[in-house]
Amino acid sequence: MKTIFSGIQPSGTLTLGNYLGALKHFVDLQNDYNCYFCVVDEHAITVPQDRLQLRENIRSLAALYIASGIDVSKSTLFIQSEVPEHTQLGWMLQCVSYIGELERMTQFKDKSQGGKEGVTSGLLTYPPLMAADILLYKTDIVPVGEDQKQHLELTRNLAQRFNNKYNDIFTVPEVSIPKVGARIMSLQEPTNKMSKSDANQKAFISMLDDEKKILKKVKSAVTDSEGVVKYDKENKPGVANLLTIYSICSGISVEDLEEKYQNTGYGVFKEDVAQAVIATLKPIQERYDQLIQSDELDDMLDQGANHASFQANKMLKKAKKAMGLGRVR
Ligand code: TYM
Repeated sequence: MKTIFSGIQPSGTLTLGNYLGALKHFVDLQNDYNCYFCVVDEHAITVPQDRLQLRENIRSLAALYIASGIDVSKSTLFIQSEVPEHTQLGWMLQCVSYIGELERMTQFKDKSQGGKEGVTSGLLTYPPLMAADILLYKTDIVPVGEDQKQHLELTRNLAQRFNNKYNDIFTVPEVSIPKVGARIMSLQEPTNKMSKSDANQKAFISMLDDEKKILKKVKSAVTDSEGVVKYDKENKPGVANLLTIYSICSGISVEDLEEKYQNTGYGVFKEDVAQAVIATLKPIQERYDQLIQSDELDDMLDQGANHASFQANKMLKKAKKAMGLGRVR
């Protein structure tokens, strides 16, 4: 059975983009693959975090994984910082990464635009840690949204470089990006991706937004003055984004939706988009409310960390041996 690994940062409540681009696909994959899903809290601290808020976000993300359908009897769900092998291998992979290639990562470039003085070195060395997450588990496939493609390319390069230089121990992973929904866009600036760290709350739908909020946000989504519901990413990015969201949430094809709304204008269309999103998120929110109160969640995470650590330790030992670290006994 092939192995899958993916991670999500607990840096705020997940957005509809995280769900449609990543989480939703994880649920479908767990029947056919050996899956590891991670709350990557060590990635979250590359930018400032409030201590108590981070703790809350970690638990909340774990609950959202399960509420969305991750089943711990099939998949391993765990918190990154509870499996120390991640930072250990992360350090070793930093020592095979070049500063030049890390500085070329678009995410680093975006986040360090205001100058490098106020940016942590963790933001620069984030991709080797991500590579460690993946390579510890002999991962074959990494399902992610479009924005992680470059990090995955670097992971593949680091794995190959390590294998050539030291010993052939790492599986070189493939990336898997969904055909539809790999880049859900901001509701306010539909040429930018929907992001949980957007300062404008109206730009994203959180997975825990209530019906009223979802309706309000969809209704105020930026479109255009044409009044025609048509998928044209270049000229009508706002409408194209809403069509993508509606299509994935309802299971109706974009073509059928274009036909259905050809004479209605944006008012009715937006109302129906909102209802499709509400219908998708409501059952998840109900399960989430039960889980977040329970001890059951902690038991699941303990079990996940134990299993992940057992597997990760085997690979870490191989990597240390390949690099000549420690002693032979
Ligand atoms: P993160 O936490 O930013 O996002 C988690 C997942 O959601 C996807 N995603 C989106 N998909 C579609 N439309 C959007 N607007 C959108 N926004 C986010 C992301 O592509 C991702 O799949 N570096 C990673 C976390 C990570 C990781 C890993 C992922 C750490 N280690 C190992 C895979 C494997 C990140 O910051 O994702």
